[in-house]
Amino acid sequence: MTSPAVRAASRRRFLKYLAASPLCASGAWAARADEAPSRWPDPMIWTRPGGAPIKSPKDAINVFDFEPVAFQNVPPAHFGYMASGLDDEVTLRANREGFLKFQLKPRRLRDVSKVDMGVEIFGTKYDSPIFVCPTGGNQFFHRDGEVAVARAARAGNHLQILSTSANYGVEDVTKARGAPIWFQLYASPSFEVAQALIKKAETAGCPVLMVTVDRVAGRNQETLFRLMRSDSRDCASCHDRSSFASRVVRRHNYDGIDLSGIKGSGEAANLTWDTIKRMRDITRMKIALKGIVTPEDAELAVQNGIDAILVSNHGGRGEDNGRSTIDALPEIIAAVQGRIPVLVDSGFRRGTDIIKALAMGAAAVGVGRPYLWGLGAFGQEGVERVLEILRTETRVAMQQCGVRAINELNPGFVRRAT
Ligand SMILES: Cc1cc2nc3c(=O)[nH]c(=O)nc-3n(C[C@H](O)[C@H](O)[C@H](O)COP(=O)(O)O)c2cc1C
Repeated sequence: MTSPAVRAASRRRFLKYLAASPLCASGAWAARADEAPSRWPDPMIWTRPGGAPIKSPKDAINVFDFEPVAFQNVPPAHFGYMASGLDDEVTLRANREGFLKFQLKPRRLRDVSKVDMGVEIFGTKYDSPIFVCPTGGNQFFHRDGEVAVARAARAGNHLQILSTSANYGVEDVTKARGAPIWFQLYASPSFEVAQALIKKAETAGCPVLMVTVDRVAGRNQETLFRLMRSDSRDCASCHDRSSFASRVVRRHNYDGIDLSGIKGSGEAANLTWDTIKRMRDITRMKIALKGIVTPEDAELAVQNGIDAILVSNHGGRGEDNGRSTIDALPEIIAAVQGRIPVLVDSGFRRGTDIIKALAMGAAAVGVGRPYLWGLGAFGQEGVERVLEILRTETRVAMQQCGVRAINELNPGFVRRAT
């Protein structure tokens, strides 16, 4: 192993090389290269980001540690489906970078020896404000798919929202979760199909129907398409894309539903506020909308009698609109004025990310890819550990901010960076 002194010298040589390069017009680099070696080397050289992948969920220090293991275990095309954003992936990156625009304002000396992270949503208590976002086709990542996710959500008493496009059906997942879950609806261009899915969810005991409203057209998932090319397997041998019915053959929420009238890939381009009203007329479930990103639509949601909204850009997979949800959240909270719960997802990876959103006024915070990394890496155990890390980080962030309960968080704990 190279000594720190040798590495520091080689870092100086590298800086000198950069300084000489025509790419570096600024004299700042040259000044850095000639400076005396610091007494202590860069902290970065003491760790090896991108080093050997972890061997067990217990080894994970943060949620990112699961991603390289999932990359190893999961076929390239399936990994690409999970990792991909759209087009230039500006929104995907913005979702992470958005958190840098906000800073926490920790308070001191407030006895945080006991902390309660519990929240209540529509009368149901959960042990933390962290919920499991709906993601399709979880068997792409592990054979136990959404059932493994449900068991992990049960272990930490998290709210789970099941995707219409899940591999396992809503009855099986509810059973594995051991408590009611919410059902995410892809409306489909045919109201009859939506109606049949709504009936299934209601029969399975779901208290809330979350209608996704931000996927109404095709999408250019470049990372997925490029990784598909590096997958040696023949995708067509498993995925028959000749009709909508053949596409969803292993998506068991569709079992027994007549799909012959649905053309193409099934996006509901015809979705309107009127469609939502028709849904309201046929179900007793509460209705939430997923994919609201403007105060104008948030206001319309309230006016249309919607019970909750999820501020989401689909993890950068809806359209490449360029804006993070944490950036959009404050003005949406201001528009809603506490009339309905506002949930948020997209890009949340740290306890500090989570409490920034809660301080702004979010009722709960969802995660998507992190638990899929855990699932692809170690199955149920991986998902459990991802959720545990997020809970631990959230609790620590609350304590460090001097907060004993979620309802003590308020906008005074967060400020926009200048
Ligand atoms: C692989 C994958 C599949 C997804 N499938 C669905 C889905 O079927 N329905 C839906 O409403 N959202 C879906 N989403 C979006 C998530 O519900 C959620 O909004 C997003 O993952 C949150 O962002 P994050 O992944 O950065 O945490 C999916 C996201 C991913 C990564």
